Amino acid sequence: MDIITTPSYEALSKEAASYVSRKIQENPHIVLGLATGSTPTGMYEQLIKDHITSGTSYRHVTTFNLDEYVGVRKENPNSYYAFMEKHLFQHIDIQHNSTFIPDGMSADPQKECNIYEQKLRKHGPIDLQILGLGANGHIGFNEPGTSFSSSTHIVELTDSTRKANSRFFKDLEDVPTHAITMGIASIMEAKEILLLVAGANKRQAYEQLLYGEISEDFPASILKKHPCVKILADQSVLDTSSIIA
Ligand code: GLP
Repeated sequence: MDIITTPSYEALSKEAASYVSRKIQENPHIVLGLATGSTPTGMYEQLIKDHITSGTSYRHVTTFNLDEYVGVRKENPNSYYAFMEKHLFQHIDIQHNSTFIPDGMSADPQKECNIYEQKLRKHGPIDLQILGLGANGHIGFNEPGTSFSSSTHIVELTDSTRKANSRFFKDLEDVPTHAITMGIASIMEAKEILLLVAGANKRQAYEQLLYGEISEDFPASILKKHPCVKILADQSVLDTSSIIA
């Protein structure tokens, strides 16, 4: 794993965006794997700026989102569909039929998982997968205990993840109990992975990622087996005891 630490969240966001933008310029038909959550919002902001000022085009780009809540309508501001519209898609020239997000309102969520996996096969592999890191080590919505060989599946969210994500909802009861997520194996098929880690609340998870064992109890640990992972971490995740030069 290639690790880069940045002095601030803003620097991390700029670094991530310039990396992604460079990749798009090298391959205008790139397939990107996208993440939601607080961590990548700064990167998306920078990508929008870059699109406006430098003209980086998304006309031929395809995107796959990692996950979506089950039972949340697209129009609901808390859906990941709405998140992507707000933070990226409505500001760039991407073709909407080239953006894929699991349908959390499908009448048959299991079937939706199979369809999503088929779409990944048809349009993939993902060239560059962006990931955030859950405080409990989750990637996408793959909670601790998820099989490393999992493909896109339905997941019951842990209490800690629901609590962490409740900051976006009116109260905890409104946070969905289930989600559809790309599996660990689906994520690992990406040719390259860019993991973003920011904020003091990720300190412990970051340490475990760097120094802990590879175990299904800590889903992100599988990334150590991927041949091409870049980690961008901001200063706030670094303990004084674990500063990486
Ligand atoms: C969420 C998302 C993940 C995200 C992670 C960290 O629940 N499903 O894709 O990477 O948790 O989120 P944040 O960046 O808000 O800390």
